[in-house]
Amino acid sequence: MTEIREQGVAGTDRYLVNFNTDELPCEFYDVVIIGSGIAGMYTALSIPKKAKVLVITKETIEINNSVLAQGGIAVSLDQHDSPDLHFQDTLYAGAGLCDEDAVKVLVTEAAENIATLCLYGVRFDRDEENRLALTREGAHSMNRIIHTGDATGKEVCDTLVRAVSRLDNVTIKECTFAVDLITENNECKGVLAVNAEGTLMAYYAPVVVCASGGYGRLYYHTTNPEVATGDGAAMAYRAGAELMDLEFVQFHPTVLFHPENKSFLISEAVRGEGALLKNINGERFMPHYHHMAELAPRDVVSRAIFEEMKKTGSDHVFLDITHKDRNFLEYRFPTIFKTCLSYGIDMSKDYIPVAPSQHYSMGGIKTDEWGKSDIKGFYSVGEAACNGIHGANRLASNSLLEGLVFGRRIGREIEKNLEDIKKCSGIKPSIRFYKERKKKELDAVRLKEELQRIMQQNVGIIRSRESLNYAMESILKMNEELSDAELFNNQLMELKNMLLLSSNVVKAALLREESRGAHFRSDFPASDDEKWLKNIVFGVNI
Ligand code: SIN
Repeated sequence: MTEIREQGVAGTDRYLVNFNTDELPCEFYDVVIIGSGIAGMYTALSIPKKAKVLVITKETIEINNSVLAQGGIAVSLDQHDSPDLHFQDTLYAGAGLCDEDAVKVLVTEAAENIATLCLYGVRFDRDEENRLALTREGAHSMNRIIHTGDATGKEVCDTLVRAVSRLDNVTIKECTFAVDLITENNECKGVLAVNAEGTLMAYYAPVVVCASGGYGRLYYHTTNPEVATGDGAAMAYRAGAELMDLEFVQFHPTVLFHPENKSFLISEAVRGEGALLKNINGERFMPHYHHMAELAPRDVVSRAIFEEMKKTGSDHVFLDITHKDRNFLEYRFPTIFKTCLSYGIDMSKDYIPVAPSQHYSMGGIKTDEWGKSDIKGFYSVGEAACNGIHGANRLASNSLLEGLVFGRRIGREIEKNLEDIKKCSGIKPSIRFYKERKKKELDAVRLKEELQRIMQQNVGIIRSRESLNYAMESILKMNEELSDAELFNNQLMELKNMLLLSSNVVKAALLREESRGAHFRSDFPASDDEKWLKNIVFGVNI
């Protein structure tokens, strides 16, 4: 795939905080992994036991985006299915921008990693013949989603955390905020982090794996947890790594729309089991928009809902699965059933009010098929990474799979290079970074919310040059206010990361003067293959 390579939005200091490695408290490891979701944990399990590994996670270990994944994991297991069909569906959803080699890796290595999960003890649902039960989600031509009820992410994450906790070579530090990647001459030396006691630390290691998740919290309405502020991509960018496909932000079509909760996902698997989308007049509309109707690619369904809401002057539509038996719904979707009921919605009798909401970041740290970035020793995997498998729009349930397949590949890379890695471990670089900064009264919570509203209103499902220019101006103004400010707490550092990423998301969205996948420009509503069948890559050193 060809690329447009440009300097991203400038005005970035190399580090967020002042430090001097001669004075910083420190620890030494062979590998540091940032993030405790499926990608981070599975990578930790895939690294040889001779390596000394540290996992740091911003919150407690169970708080991440993977845990919330309801639907499942895509894998071609049905006798009529094949990795090739999975490959084709992934490319179709990705709207021309997938990296075919990376997708091939994903689909051909899927089954062996699922077998490994089963060996770790993950309890996927099974059919009457004790085979893994398969369901359907949007844009899949076959039933190929394995699941554990509607809490697949939780089952997988809990199992992986238990397995990692048994490893003697892995240390886990919770409530530890990764501030910046420490580099020297474009080589990774470790991570600068604020530990649970609030102390700035250096965790030195020749290999750092960034599995810190995406940037969903740039938006006001999102299914992502609070931790998803794009810290990994922002720190990678400051260190000189390249970011790719930032303009592609996925909006999940069906998120609960209730005055008390606008972030709870109603899994696509509910449509996979037959739920229909209806507008507020009770009319089914998806067949007018796409031949796959409710199971069209996610970007198509989200835009169709947006269109119906506009037409009917409403802020939501409905999901109707009332034709299914209550027992079936309670068994197949226990979390969704209970949560809806807690808001007075009995999904066996009532329509569920839903609206699209931010859900997944396709863009991230540019990596190759082995998870390698362009900084020596720095890898990325999962939602933090962009290896090209999702293209302009991720196929449902390919994300947990990505964390597994590429996490294990990183493990293999580390195994291959372990001798050299060990030789570079235990070395403290000599780095001093200082910038004059002022103490300012800054309310990070208020400023974050302001940014999220700007992104929601101007860089959402439908964008235009006008809305994007407005967003850019507002973001740069906010960033200016912070440029010489001391970032005295983690919230302010997160805000700085969010501003950096937002400005680059907007810049990429402005550059791409066409509509493709999750990126829809009302001023350029058609795809333009001649000009735009390419990825947008940003870096500070380009
Ligand atoms: C869902 O259950 O609808 C989410 C699955 C995904 O995001 O891949």
